Amino acid sequence: MSAKSEDMNGHSSSEIVASDRESTPASTSHEADPIADPGLHHPPPRLTDVDPKAERRAERQVAGMFSLASILLVLSIVAYIVFEIAPDDPDDGVSVGDVQISNFTLGITLGLATLLIGLGAVQWARALMKSPELVHERHELRSDDNIREAALADFETGTEETGFGRRKMIRNSLLGSLALLPLPAVVLLRDLGPANGPSPVDAKETTIWSEGVRVVTDVTFQPIRAADLELGQLVNAMPETFEDLPDHGPERINARAKVPVMVIRMAPEELHVAEGRENWHVDGIVAYSKICTHVGCPISLYERTTHHMLCPCHQSTFDLADAGKVIFGPATRSLPQLPLAVDGEGYLIAQSDFHEPVGPTYWER
Ligand code: FES
Repeated sequence: MSAKSEDMNGHSSSEIVASDRESTPASTSHEADPIADPGLHHPPPRLTDVDPKAERRAERQVAGMFSLASILLVLSIVAYIVFEIAPDDPDDGVSVGDVQISNFTLGITLGLATLLIGLGAVQWARALMKSPELVHERHELRSDDNIREAALADFETGTEETGFGRRKMIRNSLLGSLALLPLPAVVLLRDLGPANGPSPVDAKETTIWSEGVRVVTDVTFQPIRAADLELGQLVNAMPETFEDLPDHGPERINARAKVPVMVIRMAPEELHVAEGRENWHVDGIVAYSKICTHVGCPISLYERTTHHMLCPCHQSTFDLADAGKVIFGPATRSLPQLPLAVDGEGYLIAQSDFHEPVGPTYWER
């Protein structure tokens, strides 16, 4: 089948339906088709094209999927009503379980309904819709002179009607505002330069650990007596000063992200003490940052016999008996070690802040 038509610009264009699935290239007329054989692949007829039973079966499949999708959509409304997220008692909060059940049922019903509508549409197109192959000749991209002149005349008429040339005050104020439009973006580039006050880099490189700050247990904030730690024991710990930070304030949130440490006791002879860190442990008790140096997951999967610490996120493994060195995985930097000492009452204290930034490696570090 073939057809010739005129486009909107008056150009002659030819649209040729080269073949339907039932047609053959031989049926194409050379006179009507400027390209007699465009080299299209002619697939064999589908089963649904030649077997009425297969066609009806495909039709039932598509209708079945659409109907099932309708049922699921109705069920999603039922689920929304039945598993309502609202506390029974207005004084109680919403329970996490209610939210999970509601999300799960809504997700399943809406997700499956959408999937079935999509699958039904695909099956309809693949098995039942006619799929003629088309060749569409394009006209020249350049318009002819008449059209170009008409477009120019339209533009001039538009300019005249808007009064852009005549109303100088409006025109000039508009041009002025357009000229200023990029300026805010340029001003915002200033944020890429040095910051006022402590730079984000400085903020990353220091923590609230400092000389004499007691090491306390996380959550319960109990000071840790060195003598109470057993061989092989690991305790998650914080600086005592963390508790004094205002609740929910940015200082507390920032500190929470940087200061957690793991305190581990191992036999002193198992430690490979790095040069310059000879006095950083207390009778085999060492402390390392709990923040992975890869992308900052909190780590605490400790293998007591090997003193290896595994990060659950991407399996970086650190050797806590050997200065927290990376022995496996994507992290490239050792875990920062916190120098420890004991105070007069035998409690663990920090000798200083960390000597290197905690957390993910970034830029040149
Ligand atoms: S965050 Fe620890 S290995 Fe990636």
